[in-house]
Amino acid sequence: MSEQDNLEELGKSALARVAQAATSAQLDEIDTEYLGRKGELTLQLRKIGSLPADQRKDFGQAVNDIKVRITDAIEARKKTISGGEIDAKLAAEAVDITMPGRFYRIGRPHVLVQTLAKIKDIFIRLGYEIVESPEVESYHYNFEALNYPLDHPAIDEQMSFYINDERLLRTHTTAYQHRQMEKRKPPIMVCTMGKCYRVDAVDATHNHTFHQVDCFCVDRGITMADLKGTLYQFAVEMFGADTNIRFRPDFFPFVEPGAEVAVTCSICAGKGCNVCKGSGWLELAGAGMIHPNVLRGAGIDPEEYTGFAFGFGIDRMPMVQHGIDDMRLFMDNDLRFLRQL
Ligand code: DAH
Repeated sequence: MSEQDNLEELGKSALARVAQAATSAQLDEIDTEYLGRKGELTLQLRKIGSLPADQRKDFGQAVNDIKVRITDAIEARKKTISGGEIDAKLAAEAVDITMPGRFYRIGRPHVLVQTLAKIKDIFIRLGYEIVESPEVESYHYNFEALNYPLDHPAIDEQMSFYINDERLLRTHTTAYQHRQMEKRKPPIMVCTMGKCYRVDAVDATHNHTFHQVDCFCVDRGITMADLKGTLYQFAVEMFGADTNIRFRPDFFPFVEPGAEVAVTCSICAGKGCNVCKGSGWLELAGAGMIHPNVLRGAGIDPEEYTGFAFGFGIDRMPMVQHGIDDMRLFMDNDLRFLRQL
């Protein structure tokens, strides 16, 4: 085979490989293999010196000719391939703008926390200081200091979670009252809120863990009228301007007289519905004038000072407000439920 034929063969196989190349990386390889510093055609050019003088010009031209053809072919193939590569890349990164959007969720306070926050806000505006009090309480503060006689049935009735003979999980937030009375001097206006615990059969309307608010006020000349005015103001702010309150006699060892307080049913505006069982009223709180024994026990002279107190559960409030019929949902922490409130 002559040098010219040899060259033709080399050119043909190079062009065939270019035509078959599938990626620009393969084309770069072919480029180096034929046209690079140590490439096949470069080696061919080096041969020129060893050829007879009359053949050199033609041979050189032939090599250059093939070089140009291969270079052009690589360029052209590269354009086709990179067009395809860009299309493939675009296809892979494509965003379907017709897809429905995704809703960016942020957290929110638990519905009971929302209710407590609203109550807190109202009592702060009424002049109360909001205080914290232990959930693990002593028998003394939970019962004894609140004028419960040792054999009082309520101690059994309230079925408590005892930690030992002395300590229990507080059965009502009222347990904070004596702690506060002991370390303050009248006038006192404080309020606490939080979890309480009782051994109770759990069902849709009872739970072993529930939340209460307790408020009291001690000063000279405090009467039932102050209690009534305060609860009325609270009820109006909490449940709306048309809300009324109703007092009925009740008994709690730590108040005398004691009362059960109801508010106008916010669902039927007092007309009677299934939530208020047709009465038009919803029970709100226990209340009364602080018993002289309680004041005396904390070193406050009941001849000089009087006080009122009231306490209520809050778990039923969002139940009534949102028409929820099972209290356990509040403690289950199922986000599908909580997110709706
Ligand atoms: N502690 C009572 C209960 O859990 C509610 C209560 C009644 C609180 C009368 C008071 C009050 O402060 O004066 O049922």
